[in-house]
Amino acid sequence: MHSKDQISHDDYQKTADWLLSQTQHRPKVAIICGSGLGMLADGLKCQDSFPYADIPGFPQSTVQGHAGRLVFGELKGKTCVCMQGRFHMYEGHSLSKTTFPVRVFKLLGVETLIVTNAAGSLADSYNTGDIMIIKDHINFPGLAGLNPLNGPNDDKFGPRFPPMSGVYDRELRRLAQDISKTMGVSQYMQEGVYCMVGGPNFESIAEARLLHRLGVDAVGMSTAPEVLVASHCGMRVFGLSLITNKVVKCYDDPECVDHESVLEVSKLRSQTLQALVSELVGRMDVNNNNTA
Ligand code: HPA
Repeated sequence: MHSKDQISHDDYQKTADWLLSQTQHRPKVAIICGSGLGMLADGLKCQDSFPYADIPGFPQSTVQGHAGRLVFGELKGKTCVCMQGRFHMYEGHSLSKTTFPVRVFKLLGVETLIVTNAAGSLADSYNTGDIMIIKDHINFPGLAGLNPLNGPNDDKFGPRFPPMSGVYDRELRRLAQDISKTMGVSQYMQEGVYCMVGGPNFESIAEARLLHRLGVDAVGMSTAPEVLVASHCGMRVFGLSLITNKVVKCYDDPECVDHESVLEVSKLRSQTLQALVSELVGRMDVNNNNTA
């Protein structure tokens, strides 16, 4: 990574201090909303919202379907901050910019990060519209050396060599399974391995076959960097993938994925996904004593 990409602790702190001066909310939970899944933020009570363009130091989102604002408010009695629109590597952001909000959240006092994304399925048993609880990830860009933690380590956030086993919180995954049963949507629920690829192109058939052979259940173009940075600074992490398409693995399959169909399916199942996240937030243990 080039030094121009380095962001200092002070830079994160300045953004956090600005936000703390603009809102009374002191969130313990942050939610990153994936493609077409931003409506969750609209349901927050007593909202304070900030377009990314107004927040000092914040990157700007460029993807259709991502509104680009930070929304603070109450969800089922818990104080949350929601990213309506995330930053992707393929937009040309450095990975430290992509994950900038996560460290800002840490400085706001956030302890739990919830990530949602749209993903294509590789697992043969998955269907379009399924919701996958992320159990683990394969970070392809990370394996190739594209890592938001590259560069001098900031010990104030976490260790130089952070472990990546057990990153997706077991208790929250179990709670989500229980909630899906109570909601009567367990037939759509899956639990599996998410793989991040760089994008912006969807996978070739040979790439899809490779991922399938590697044991990937769902593939997308986000999430791993934010999760990595959250885990590095000690946050509890929970993630959901909405399966918007089956990845084409067969040369005689006429199906072809496009961004519009991804957004269509997001709309179809987004209410279920949002209800699931709300219930999860409502039932999770949170130290909600408003001390950042
Ligand atoms: N591949 C990669 N990213 C995606 C896909 C896919 O098939 N669907 C939604 N995001």
